[in-house]
Formats: sequence, C-alpha cells, structure tokens
Amino acid sequence: LSDDARTLLLSRIKDVPDYPKPGVMFKDITPLLADPEAFAALTDALVELAGRYGATKIVGLEARGFILAAPVAVQAGIGFVPVRKAGKLPGATLAQSYELEYGTAEVEVHAEDLSAGDRVMVIDDVLATGGTAEASLSLIRRAGAEVAGVAVLMELSFLPGRVRLGEALGEAPLDAL
Ligand code: PRP
Repeated sequence: LSDDARTLLLSRIKDVPDYPKPGVMFKDITPLLADPEAFAALTDALVELAGRYGATKIVGLEARGFILAAPVAVQAGIGFVPVRKAGKLPGATLAQSYELEYGTAEVEVHAEDLSAGDRVMVIDDVLATGGTAEASLSLIRRAGAEVAGVAVLMELSFLPGRVRLGEALGEAPLDAL
C-alpha cells in the first residue's frame, strides 16, 4: 500500500465515540465503501496480499469482512467462503465457539467449501480481541485446509488481538493495512 493510498483509506474511516455503547470507539468503514477510489485501493492491496500468500480461497468474516473479501475473491479469480455467525448456513457445517468479554459466541462454515490442499486467506475489517479470527482459523484447519494468512484493514493495537492470535497463526502472517 502506498503512503497516498493509506492516507486516503484512513481519511475514509470515521471514529464514532461511544458506539455501540459508552466507552467504545467504533470504526465506521461506510465512508470508505462509499468512495469508489478508496474501496478500489483497498481491494487492490488485498488482492496483492492474496498473491503473496499464494491463496487459493478467500474466507470473509461476517458481516463487514464479507464486504471487503468478496471483491478480492472476484478480482483474484478464486473462490469466496463465508464464515458466518451460528445458525445461518443450511448445509453441513463445522462450528467453533469462542470466548467474549461476557459469554461466548459461535461461528460456522460449510464443511464442503474448504478442503485439503486449499490455502486460505482470511479477511476482516477489524482485529480487536482476536476471538473471531482465532475461531475462524480453527475452522479452516479442522476442514483440512491450510491458513495462508490473515489480513485486516485495522488492528486495534490497544487490544491483545495479535497476541491472542499468535499461537493460532503459527507460521502464517497477520497483516494490518
Ligand atoms: C466485529 C469485526 C470483527 C470482530 C472483531 O464484528 O467486524 O469481525 O468484531 O472482534 P474480535 O477481534 O474481538 O473478535 P461484529 O461482531 O461487530 O459483527 P459485524 O461485522 O457483523 O457487525
């Protein structure tokens, strides 16, 4: 990503204080999505990373990860696989629960969408605690596929996402644009 492109992307992410609850700074990416130049610059950067990873599949994490990942899959000419919140996929799934600050959450993937030999790039908008990404990596490996790398638009560096993800990443890179 060039400095100009990074500046453009950053200028299109809006900090919204106290959303969805007091004390939380929400990163709103809708201005970026609404700007075709910015969205294209982000997509190009992710497509380049997909090439560097040698990815053969793109996994997007619900919901904002879907928006960022789908055009990358099309532009890179490889398949898109959604990792969804529990209860949304009709076929045979693998499910993985993970810890939240209060309680647990669960994500699922269609088992037939990933297989041995696949090199999977995971795309999401934000890495916060790393719980969602960690659970997704577990799903990918349980499906028999290999994690080629994880790419996020933003990493909240005051949260231990990279640390939590560290062991699950193994040799795979984590890139924050
Ligand atoms: C957000 C974000 C990531 C996840 C990061 O999604 O888009 O997927 O949380 O948090 P973590 O690193 O602590 O797991 P959210 O659950 O708000 O869902 P949405 O994209 O459907 O709004």
